[in-house]
Amino acid sequence: MGSRTHDLAGAPLVIKLDDDVQTLHVLGVGAGVVGRATGLALRDLGHRVRFADIDDGVVERLRAEGLEASHMANLDLAGVDLVLVSVQTPTFEDHADLRYLEAAIADIGEALGRAAASEPDRYRVVVVRSTIPPGTTEDRLIPALETRSGLRAGEDFGVSMTPEYLRHWNAQADAGAPRASVVGELDERSGDLVERLVAPFGRPIHRMPIRAAEFHKYVHNLANAAKISFFNELREVATSIGVDADRVFGLVTETAEGLWNAAYGTLDLGSFEGCLSKDLRAFLSWAAERGLELPLLSGAEDTNRRSERG
Ligand SMILES: NC(=O)c1ccc[n+]([C@@H]2O[C@H](COP(=O)([O-])OP(=O)(O)OC[C@H]3O[C@@H](n4cnc5c(N)ncnc54)[C@H](O)[C@@H]3O)[C@@H](O)[C@H]2O)c1
Repeated sequence: MGSRTHDLAGAPLVIKLDDDVQTLHVLGVGAGVVGRATGLALRDLGHRVRFADIDDGVVERLRAEGLEASHMANLDLAGVDLVLVSVQTPTFEDHADLRYLEAAIADIGEALGRAAASEPDRYRVVVVRSTIPPGTTEDRLIPALETRSGLRAGEDFGVSMTPEYLRHWNAQADAGAPRASVVGELDERSGDLVERLVAPFGRPIHRMPIRAAEFHKYVHNLANAAKISFFNELREVATSIGVDADRVFGLVTETAEGLWNAAYGTLDLGSFEGCLSKDLRAFLSWAAERGLELPLLSGAEDTNRRSERG
């Protein structure tokens, strides 16, 4: 059964779906922690989900669980509405290693070209779920998809970057109950289809340009990294002066506005002055006199001085 909608220019667009307008046919490329957990969560929502992976062992394990899975060598996008790409992007020599992702994208591009020949009316959307530096999708992945498929992104197929936020130790539960979905979209059609995919989660959906979604995922992780580092740094100070860090830090979550007011510090108000500035400088000197190094807080002072200069 198909559903009719309109693209940005008002031209009619037919999106062909398998059963009814709610059910989408999803192919999860890369079925590790993220791919498997999100695939199962989407299946629980009523979507049809198949998996493809480069690793024979992964494919066999999925099949043993009664799931539809195939090796990448047999990639077939017939009937598929969305291709969700969740392959690993490890850090190698301090850079995001995109080799796995680019290999998967090359295979998906070839398969898109084959599928378009047999099903020219279906607007498939390639959805990148892997964490990647801002600009990667537009600068590297979309050109590769176009070259391999011989098709045009935004005309013959759609693209989205929809990051995943699950915690690996709670993967299945987190995938089934996202706090929100951030949908980076190449065009409105791509975003519409991804929105229909995740809408049944019943959580907020935030649509934005692709590089904003890529950036958001990093800022999300960096915010957590900075917070952990901040308290680790000050834990060393607490230990050195014989203070109970857990008690003080727990109390700070109640007293410091930066921890209880979610919007605090996120607005463009420039550098900080007054008590924050004077106390930061005095504390850094006090710590230095005791041989305590506070690189994160020293960096905070540098950053504030830079924004002071505009
Ligand atoms: N693990 C987490 O907690 C978590 C959370 C959020 C986001 N992420 C991000 O999601 C992405 C996936 O992470 P993960 O932990 O699921 O990785 P993973 O290593 O568990 O799984 C990756 C899977 O991709 C497969 N694969 C590799 N190359 C392939 C190819 N060319 N074609 C098809 N399959 C291929 C691997 O065999 C593996 O099964 C990464 O970018 C990661 O940063 C991870």
